[in-house]
Amino acid sequence: MSEIKIATCSLMQGSNAQSRQIQGSHAKPFTLGKVNDGNEIVHCLALLKEALPEDEYRKVLVLFLRLYARAKETAKHSARVCIISSNIGYRCNLSFEQSRDLSVSALLHDTGKVKLSDEILVGKTPLSSSQKAQIKKHPENGAALIVESGLLNAESIVEIVIGHHERIDGQGYPNGLGGSEIPLLARIISVADTFDAMTDSDRGYRKPLDKTSAQQKLWEARIEQLDCSVVKEFLSIEDL
Ligand SMILES: [Fe+2]
Repeated sequence: MSEIKIATCSLMQGSNAQSRQIQGSHAKPFTLGKVNDGNEIVHCLALLKEALPEDEYRKVLVLFLRLYARAKETAKHSARVCIISSNIGYRCNLSFEQSRDLSVSALLHDTGKVKLSDEILVGKTPLSSSQKAQIKKHPENGAALIVESGLLNAESIVEIVIGHHERIDGQGYPNGLGGSEIPLLARIISVADTFDAMTDSDRGYRKPLDKTSAQQKLWEARIEQLDCSVVKEFLSIEDL
């Protein structure tokens, strides 16, 4: 397993310097200051409206609003993950198409949760093991909804959305992929998702971590859960 980690860590070596050299060819995403100003959805949708053709933007919006109608806090989390992911992607030498797919996938990463009952989705009581098993189906349920939506590049988006709960050590779900088997854009979303979940003040079942503690936990998670190069890129963002 250590070989997988080493391979993954070396995948993006040097990308930081390289990405700074080509910044002029990519639109700079919103700064992370926009993540917690209470308007994360507005900021995120503005980012996507600029990056997508009108028809495609509408398809994304329909999927996103379906989640917003069921679970507003999950939708806000998704918007923050989109903004954080875009900032990481900006530092990772992504093409325009990759940046666009990253933003769409990040916003829709939890869209499959609309298939859950209210009791599971917005309930405040501890979940049973069967309810936890239902939650674990959300990457694949989201993929099915994205295909149904008719998004032109659904194939790429689906691969990323399905991969966002995989782990570097191969112990994630749904497919138990490890290291570089997990698409890079899914590894970026995993880092953003994990950080936002740790610092989210709207998760009633536990207290949010302060930023410093969350950064420390994220650094520790690079060993087994997260791509260490992506974690390094995230932690090096100046206005984090
Ligand atoms: Fe998720």
